[in-house]
Amino acid sequence: MSRRARILAALATLAPDVATEPGRVRIVRAPGRVNLIGEHTDYNQGWVLPVAISLETWIASWPTADRSVHLASMQEQVRAEFDVSDPGPRRGDWTDYVAGVGLGMARTGVALRGAAAVVDSNIPIGSGLSSSAALELAAAWTFSEAIPPPLAPMALARLAQRAENEYVGVACGLMDQFASANGRAGAALLLDCRSLEYRPVALPRNLAIVVLDTNTRRQLATSEYNSRRADCERGVALLATRYPGVSSLRDVSGHMLEAAEDLLGAQVLRRCRHVVEENGRVLEAVAALEAGDLEMVGRLFAQSHASLRDLYTVSSAELDALVELAMSVPGVVGARMTGAGFGGCTVNLVHREGVEALRAAVESQYPLRAGRRAGFHVVRAVTGAGLVA
Ligand code: GLA
Repeated sequence: MSRRARILAALATLAPDVATEPGRVRIVRAPGRVNLIGEHTDYNQGWVLPVAISLETWIASWPTADRSVHLASMQEQVRAEFDVSDPGPRRGDWTDYVAGVGLGMARTGVALRGAAAVVDSNIPIGSGLSSSAALELAAAWTFSEAIPPPLAPMALARLAQRAENEYVGVACGLMDQFASANGRAGAALLLDCRSLEYRPVALPRNLAIVVLDTNTRRQLATSEYNSRRADCERGVALLATRYPGVSSLRDVSGHMLEAAEDLLGAQVLRRCRHVVEENGRVLEAVAALEAGDLEMVGRLFAQSHASLRDLYTVSSAELDALVELAMSVPGVVGARMTGAGFGGCTVNLVHREGVEALRAAVESQYPLRAGRRAGFHVVRAVTGAGLVA
């Protein structure tokens, strides 16, 4: 059975008229993302280089006459019912990402419709591939009365980020929602998180993007994420006492950091150094990709991973094992942890003819090192959220 047939069958259990009036069904999609480089830079007004990937969340919906939402999922047991523009307090489960977007759209004055809606996703949940951002963008396309929604993709992304910050209560940056909304087939996206200007960066055709999932999820991820953010904010506040022009780590150079060692203390200094150097690596990686200098891309990936492991301390034994293992396979150009860290996935750029060797190495060696199997996904760069064709 096709993906479309399966989601329509699931929707028919919520909205029995689906079979008689199939023209009223709306099916939307929103991709997950993998970040090539630029980690923990988005909330520091830096640069990121994510790719919207061919692991996607779909929502099939049927309009309701009132503004009620009846929400179910093909992966999760929990269901919810709420008013699209007034969902009440959050419930503490996956439905909050959907409800928060409805509320955010209502506050922005977007014309909304209620819906019976079924979610189907093949993005592994909690793996650092932005299953939540994809859910948010798909929700926005579901609830908007007009198609396309009256807000541009960047505005939708910001609305979804705000919903996650304010309604769900996660202090994420803009990267994930941005990538899910603005994805380009065959390209990564260089985003300047200060000006919000962005441009596509074509990916070399001979390279595959392979996402390896450690299949570990760490419980404390949210509080660890918030404490890294707090370290960066503390760094900015301290640096601003000496350099009045500093309003984010974007304004800070390596020299300024070196000179401010006494001011910052060891831990804040390490966090700030990661961010400042990682920003430089994003721009270098874009130049290297565009010049076809894959050796340089690999070096920058390795430096990024080491910095996340040693300075930002958000890697894990399993992530380190997957990176090390991948780098021993001929044909692998670069490997690093991706996303927030604390478990989750690595991203690998691999010559197409090396993909099966990587698969074999991961299957035989990762279980010996981690006591579990890894997820293996060869993904394509795809277009951002929209209707399923
Ligand atoms: C998570 C957040 C993003 C970003 C990354 C780290 O994915 O949602 O905003 O901060 O972590 O680069």
